[in-house]
Amino acid sequence: MKVPFSLATRLGSEDRFVIDAIHSGRLSGDGAYGRRCEGCAADYLGSGNVLLTSSGTHALEIAAMLLDLSPGDEVIMPSFTFTSTATAFVLRGAQPVFVDVRPDTMNIDDRCIEAAITPRTRAIVVVHYGGVACQMDRVMELASAHGLTVIEDAAHALGGRWRERPLGTIGDISAFSFHETKNLTSGGEGGMIWVRDPALFARAQVMREKGTNRSAFRAGKVAKYEWMDIGSSFLMSDVSAAYLWPQMSAIDLIARQRRSICDAYFAAFAEIIASGRITVQETPSGTCAPGHMFYMKLRDEADRDAFAAAVRASGVLAVSHYVPLHTAPAGRKFGRLVGQDAVTTRDSRRLVRLPVFYNMTIAQRDLVIDAALTFFANSP
Ligand SMILES: Cc1ncc(COP(=O)(O)O)c(C=O)c1O
Repeated sequence: MKVPFSLATRLGSEDRFVIDAIHSGRLSGDGAYGRRCEGCAADYLGSGNVLLTSSGTHALEIAAMLLDLSPGDEVIMPSFTFTSTATAFVLRGAQPVFVDVRPDTMNIDDRCIEAAITPRTRAIVVVHYGGVACQMDRVMELASAHGLTVIEDAAHALGGRWRERPLGTIGDISAFSFHETKNLTSGGEGGMIWVRDPALFARAQVMREKGTNRSAFRAGKVAKYEWMDIGSSFLMSDVSAAYLWPQMSAIDLIARQRRSICDAYFAAFAEIIASGRITVQETPSGTCAPGHMFYMKLRDEADRDAFAAAVRASGVLAVSHYVPLHTAPAGRKFGRLVGQDAVTTRDSRRLVRLPVFYNMTIAQRDLVIDAALTFFANSP
């Protein structure tokens, strides 16, 4: 494959920091590099309440623990998302209540949320798909009217903004991912949780440390550490944090580079978009996406698959995305859809993502463009 779909971001200085971490002999979590990354993320987000985790999935699992859910509680979320958005809550005995997405952004359709609220609803989970902001005005309004917690699944969204506010700082709790496919990576797997409320943040610290107050102990606040709450092993190793460290100081640089690739795709496909042959993602006014993803929607599944096969023959890997959760075996077992599935299934079948990664060369980018334009020339 001449152009892979994704390659882990490499700035070049990661090796030095990883080797330094190894030589320090202190490799476990909440170490020197972890603290540095958390400080940098806190400055970037404008709030100190962040903790690195072993994955974005684990950040969501801590978020779910913080809700103290009881069996039968309900959590509203889009069906078009990754499994972790739902499993985190199912693990706590709650039921995911899926609603449709908007066709322009593939984000939760804010107009479908209210009808899904019941006396058992505890939270609304929004996913900023591709780092494009959800309609946060309406989501926050509904949450406040019904006393619900808002969790932002910001796995794609570090570096994105909604009215100048960093995505992942608008709701109550948010989860970020540093998996190798994301803008920033901690060497393959990793994540981060942000918690608005200081008391809940203190609980999150305990939950991340196997339910103990070891971080308070390490800060000299208690004489010994002990079991305080539920929790698990959710710390990020300091070797992973060392890989992440140079990238954490370059969030905007990485986003700019990725956005420039997306912009080149938008420009190259402008005529095809204008003709209506394809539709592409929209970035609502007043928001800014971090260039995490570029996708287009073709006529239908057959057209999408023909496109992917044609560009693959030219050495370009273009891939589909989520299978709607409400149609998957576990989604049918653990959750339910409320309202219509007008967009989710139809658009998930015609959506294809093009390669976007920080270290992509101009030649690779142009090969993607040429391969796509050749397909549209042959299949107008
Ligand atoms: C929307 C969304 N949420 C959560 C996750 C989970 O993140 P991680 O792979 O870091 O566990 C992903 C991963 O791709 C994702 O796309």
